[in-house]
Amino acid sequence: METVDFKTPSQSLVIMNELVLPNDTNYFGNLMGGRLMYWMDVASGIASGKHTNLPGMTVSVDNLSFKYPIKLGNNVHLEAKATRAFNTSLEIHIKVWGEDLLQQTKYLSNEAYFTFVALDEHRRPKKIPAIQPETDEEIEQYNGALRRRQLRLLQAGKLNIEDAKELLELFKTK
Ligand SMILES: CC(C)(COP(=O)(O)OP(=O)(O)OC[C@H]1O[C@@H](n2cnc3c(N)ncnc32)[C@H](O)[C@@H]1OP(=O)(O)O)[C@@H](O)C(=O)NCCC(=O)NCCS
Repeated sequence: METVDFKTPSQSLVIMNELVLPNDTNYFGNLMGGRLMYWMDVASGIASGKHTNLPGMTVSVDNLSFKYPIKLGNNVHLEAKATRAFNTSLEIHIKVWGEDLLQQTKYLSNEAYFTFVALDEHRRPKKIPAIQPETDEEIEQYNGALRRRQLRLLQAGKLNIEDAKELLELFKTK
């Protein structure tokens, strides 16, 4: 099987569409958050698999904020793409839009970052290809991924504050 040193973010792009059905909704007739998180995990997991070609585990989810509810009967449009690979872990950015197909309107509902760890046949973390960003947006996401990773690992108690150099730079006054 082919192994590569790096891949571009677009090689991991996943576009997924789901229709909000009655069983997916809450009391107000909007999509339930838990159902949306499930679809986000699925789309991000496929993006991770496209990049690594290995089984992966979701190890963290952050910045999951619900901006606008998605209504019954609307389409849920999800786009997931890898931003940066580290050693064995990979950050995926996912955006979600609600789409009223009858009114022809589309609104950003939600976005988040998922981190996956690629595993070998013994379920141990395994090294993955690097990411080579191409567009300005991909470069911005790539640079920001290092700070987001430092914050995540600090919160998980897996990094010392003095090793979060790039993150600390953000808080320095000029
Ligand atoms: C994924 C798992 C096997 C990793 O094992 P581990 O002992 O934490 O392994 P490590 O400490 O070597 O970390 C492996 C990678 O995960 C990253 N990682 C660990 N905890 C993290 C966190 N909270 N946030 C982001 N990344 C994290 C590490 O930085 C490392 O990445 P790197 O190799 O790119 O530097 C283990 O944490 C696990 O089984 N977690 C449960 C996953 C799960 O059940 N998910 C839900 C269902 S899929």
